Amino acid sequence: MTQAAPFPDSRTAVVTGAASPRGIGRVTARRLASEGWAVAIVDLDADLSREAAESLNAEFGVPALGVAASVADEEQIRGAFDLIEAELPQIVGLVNIAGVSSPTPFLELTTAEWDQVFDVNLRGAYLATRRAAETMVNNSVGRVVSLASISAERGGGTFSKVPYSASKAGIIGFSRAVARELSPLGVTVNAISPGPIDTDIMGGTLTEERKNDLSRDVLVGRVGRPDEVAALIAFLMREEAGYITGVNYDINGGLHFS
Ligand SMILES: NC(=O)c1ccc[n+]([C@@H]2O[C@H](COP(=O)([O-])OP(=O)(O)OC[C@H]3O[C@@H](n4cnc5c(N)ncnc54)[C@H](O)[C@@H]3O)[C@@H](O)[C@H]2O)c1
Repeated sequence: MTQAAPFPDSRTAVVTGAASPRGIGRVTARRLASEGWAVAIVDLDADLSREAAESLNAEFGVPALGVAASVADEEQIRGAFDLIEAELPQIVGLVNIAGVSSPTPFLELTTAEWDQVFDVNLRGAYLATRRAAETMVNNSVGRVVSLASISAERGGGTFSKVPYSASKAGIIGFSRAVARELSPLGVTVNAISPGPIDTDIMGGTLTEERKNDLSRDVLVGRVGRPDEVAALIAFLMREEAGYITGVNYDINGGLHFS
């Protein structure tokens, strides 16, 4: 058992899936930069990732780097982390946000789609966490937050279906199991399960009609906003959140209690 080391003054948060202009990742990267984190954005598109990082540097004056990599590819992810460690301060935080949806009904599902969804949503979180953990454990301090989904808890029910739901349920078990091993070494590990959030992942930008439809059983009467999810992530990334680990947080406007 190691007591967690204090946060270093300069520290980097790696945010995967943060290039999408209307996504949770981009807003989370912005929020973390506003709280003084240096930020590394890891996403598929090199230009979008670089541009997102440059805007953080321009707006908040923090070091920021955009790196193109698929979270599903071990070599690319290891290369991305090596680059980040060469350019930015010590990696203290990892936010696993990269994800893909899967609206295909079960009887029409192909094994290729199943594998692709698991490759990004679960293997991707594993690969990034596995690499980040080496640095975090070495320094006895780290924060890992991964995006699961209400879909994991309710078995779909929003847009995506079986492989999405199963892969996101995997994120919850993954986070708890990794928390069990890494928390004694100074690294907290948590998951977040959002309900429907106003991004483009559910088959494109949501129309007012679709938002109303998705809000039907939401107690607060609306879909969520990316900045609301980002605020929860940013809290779990703080030094003061060091007593929270192995938890799956609901953020769903009361659509589901667990
Ligand atoms: N929007 C919602 O309603 C909602 C609800 C629950 C959970 N989530 C989860 O939140 C996360 C963010 O979703 P979003 O709504 O912002 O969607 P989004 O589509 O805007 O963002 C997903 C991001 O992941 C990136 N990505 C996809 N495959 C990748 C790969 N192989 N390697 C690296 N990056 C990759 C995309 O380029 C994109 O930037 C996802 O994990 C999603 O499953 C979203």
